[in-house]
Amino acid sequence: MYRCHVMICGGTGCTSSGSDKVAKAFETQIMAADLENEVKVIRTGCFGLCALGPIVVVYPEGSFYSMVKPEDVPEIVSEHLLKGRPVTRLLYDETVTEDNAVKSLEQTSFYNKQKRVALRNCGVINPESIEEYIGFDGYAALGKALTEMTPDGVIQT
Ligand code: FES
Repeated sequence: MYRCHVMICGGTGCTSSGSDKVAKAFETQIMAADLENEVKVIRTGCFGLCALGPIVVVYPEGSFYSMVKPEDVPEIVSEHLLKGRPVTRLLYDETVTEDNAVKSLEQTSFYNKQKRVALRNCGVINPESIEEYIGFDGYAALGKALTEMTPDGVIQT
C-alpha cells in the first residue's frame, strides 16, 4: 500500500512535451529520497488539458501540476512527497485558492463543464491494473448481465 500516487500523463501531447523525462526524474528522485515503498509513479492516459503538459497529478489530494520540467521534480519530491507541502507555484493556477489551498480538478472551468464517461477513470487509476479498474466498478455491467439478467433482458437493455 502506497501513501501517495504520482500520476504522470503519458498521452501524446505530454509525451511530446517531455513527460518521459519528467517520469524518469521522479523515479530517480523518489529512489534518492528512499520513498519507493511509499510513493508509486504511474503513467496515465491523456487528462484532456494537453496544452498544459507535461501534467502530473499527486494523490491522495489531487494536486495538479502543469508544465512540469525535470528540474522541477527535486522540489516536488522534497517538499510535497517528503514533507507533505504541495509546491503551489508549480500547480495549475486555477487549482490553487487565494489562501493556497488545493482545489480539485472538477472545480476548474475546463473540467466543470464536462461529464466524462468512457474516460472518467483516466488519471485516477492505474490503467494497467485490472484490480484498480474492478475497484472502480469496472465490468460491473458485465457482471450484472451474466448473473442477474436473462438473455432477453440483456437484448432489451
Ligand atoms: S496528453 Fe497529457 S493531457 Fe493530453
